[in-house]
Amino acid sequence: MIRFEILSRDRIDEVVEIEKQCFPGEEWTYGMFESELDNRISAFIIGVDEDNGRLVCYGCVWMIADIGDITNIAVSPDYQRQGLGERTLELLIKICAENNMSVINLEVKSGNLPAIELYKKNGFEEVGMRKNYYKDGSAAVLMTKYL
Ligand SMILES: CC(C)(COP(=O)(O)OP(=O)(O)OC[C@H]1O[C@@H](n2cnc3c(N)ncnc32)[C@H](O)[C@@H]1OP(=O)(O)O)[C@@H](O)C(=O)NCCC(=O)NCCS
Repeated sequence: MIRFEILSRDRIDEVVEIEKQCFPGEEWTYGMFESELDNRISAFIIGVDEDNGRLVCYGCVWMIADIGDITNIAVSPDYQRQGLGERTLELLIKICAENNMSVINLEVKSGNLPAIELYKKNGFEEVGMRKNYYKDGSAAVLMTKYL
C-alpha cells in the first residue's frame, strides 16, 4: 500500500535520489526542494510504500490566485507503470480543486511520451510549445486542464 503525505525535511534526500534518476542533468537540488517546505503557495506530496518505508513518488503544485502550476511529478523507476504517477497527479488535481483553482498548467518535455500520455489521460490538453526550454535544447509542450 502506498500512503500519501506532505513532504518533510527528513525525506528530501530520498526525493533527490529519485529526481537524479528521473531527470539526469536537469535535476532539482536539495536546496530547491528544501525551499518548498516554507513556500506558502506550494503543495508538495510524497508517496511512501508502507511495506518497506520507501519514498517512491512525489509531485508538486504551486497555486497562485486561481491558477495551479504543476512543477514536478516523478515515480521511482522500479515503481513505474503501477498507477502511481496517475495517483500522484489525481491528488494534485484534487488539491487544486479544494483550493478553488480554475485552471492547472504544466510544461512537459516534448518527446516525454509517458508523461504526455499521463496528462492527456487525465484531461490536460496541449495548448502551446516553448522552443529551447530545457537544458538539452528540447522544447516544452504546454498543457492545461480547466477545473
Ligand atoms: C511520467 C511518470 C510520472 C508516469 O508515472 P507511472 O507511475 O509510470 O505511470 P502510471 O502507471 O500511473 O500510468 C498512468 C498513465 O500514464 C501513461 N503512461 C505511463 N507510462 C507510460 C509509457 N511508458 N508509455 C506510454 N504511456 C505511459 C498511460 O496513459 C498510463 O495509463 P494506462 O496505464 O491506462 O496506459 C513516470 O514515467 C516518471 O516518473 N517519469 C520520469 C519523470 C517525468 O518525466 N516526469 C514528468 C515530468 S513533466
